[in-house]
Amino acid sequence: MIASIQPSLFERMVALRRDLHRHPELSWQEHRTTERLVSELDRLGLSYERPLPTGVIAEIEGPPDVPSVAIRADIDALPIQEETGLAYASEIPGVMHACGHDAHTAMLVGAAELLLSRRDTLSAPVRLIFQPAEELGAGAKSMLEAGALSGVGAIFGGHVDRHYPTGTVVAVKGTVNASTDAFRISIRGQQGHAARPHETVDAVVAGSLIVMAVQTIVSREIDPTHPSVVSIGRFEAGSAPNVIAGTASLAGTIRAQELEVRDHLRRSIARICESVGQLHEADIKLEIEEGTPPLVDRGPMVDVARSAAEAALGPDRVRSVVRGANMGGEDFSWYLQQVPGCYVRLGARLPDSAGYPAHSSRFEIDEEVLASGAAWFAEVAVRGGCALATGDAAEPALGGAR
Ligand code: NI
Repeated sequence: MIASIQPSLFERMVALRRDLHRHPELSWQEHRTTERLVSELDRLGLSYERPLPTGVIAEIEGPPDVPSVAIRADIDALPIQEETGLAYASEIPGVMHACGHDAHTAMLVGAAELLLSRRDTLSAPVRLIFQPAEELGAGAKSMLEAGALSGVGAIFGGHVDRHYPTGTVVAVKGTVNASTDAFRISIRGQQGHAARPHETVDAVVAGSLIVMAVQTIVSREIDPTHPSVVSIGRFEAGSAPNVIAGTASLAGTIRAQELEVRDHLRRSIARICESVGQLHEADIKLEIEEGTPPLVDRGPMVDVARSAAEAALGPDRVRSVVRGANMGGEDFSWYLQQVPGCYVRLGARLPDSAGYPAHSSRFEIDEEVLASGAAWFAEVAVRGGCALATGDAAEPALGGAR
C-alpha cells in the first residue's frame, strides 16, 4: 500500500465507500448518505452540525484563537444507470456514483480518524465539510451561505482522477477548472405555410444563424491561448415539414478559465442574439444562468498541498503537470473566492487499465486511492493548520464573489 495507514482503517474506508456506492443519491437527496456519515461521526465522537437538509459539517477541536483549516468532500451521485458489473454496483436504478464522490466521502472520514490519532499535535482546529449537490454546481454556495467557512482560514479539497497513477497528487498553481454558465435563447418569429416563407419569420433560420455565429466567438474573438468553450446542446423548433416554425428554443453552456474571457463570451452571445433579432425581425431573448466561477489554485496553500503530498506519499508522488486545460466545472471554486486553499487531483488509475471516463456508466477507480487520499487530507490539514497558526497563509482570498 502506498500510504502507510493501518489495514483496519483501509478496510473501514473500503466498506464505507462500497456502502455509499451501493446506495447513491442525487444532488440534494443525499439523506441516507448524510445519516450514514452522522453515524460515522458519532462513532468517532465528533461534534457536528447539519445546516442544510443534506450534508454535514464536523469539527475536530484544536487550539483556541487559531482559525480552522477545512477539508471538504462532495457526497452526491449522478443520474446514470451503472454498468460496471461490480459486486457492489448501485442498487438504485438510474443513479450511480460515476464521479467518485463516494471515494471522496470515505477518504474524508478516514482522514478524520488519522487526525484524531494526532489530535494533541494539531496547530489548528480541523473542519470536515461533507457537501451535497456538487454535481449541480450549487452545494458549495449553499454551504457558504449557511456559514460553513465561518472561522475558517484555509480550505483543501481533491478529486479522484484516472489519468494519474494511484498514490500521486497533482497540485498546480493556476486555473484547474473552468467557469460554467448555462444559457437559454428563445426566438419568437411568425409561424406560417412552408410554401409561403415571405409571410413568416422563420425561427429555424434565425436559430441556425445564432448557432453558427456563436461558434465564431471562441475561434475568432478569443485569444487561442486562453481556453474557452461555447456549446449549444439543445435546439428545439418546429412541428411539421410544411409549417415554418414561429418559435425556437436553444440552450447551451459557456466555459472559461478567466473572468475576463467569461465576460467576453457572455457579451458576444448577447450581441449575436440582438443582431440576429434585428436581421430577421424576430423577438429574441437571452437568459444566462450564472454557474460556478473558475477554480484557481494560487498562493502559499498550493505549496502546503504539495508538501503534504510529499510527506504523506513520498517526494516522487507529487505531479505538477495537468493534461491540458480542464474545461469541466467544480463548485469548490466558491470556497476559494472566500479563503485561501488548494484543490488537487488524486491519482486513481486502475492498474493495467485506462478505465472509463468519469460521468460514464462504467466509471471505476482504484480503491487504493482511499488510502493515499485519506493520508493526504490528514497531512494537508495538519500542515495547513501550522501555516495558519504561524501566519504563513497571508494570501488574500480572491474576493468579490460573482
Ligand atoms: Ni466530481
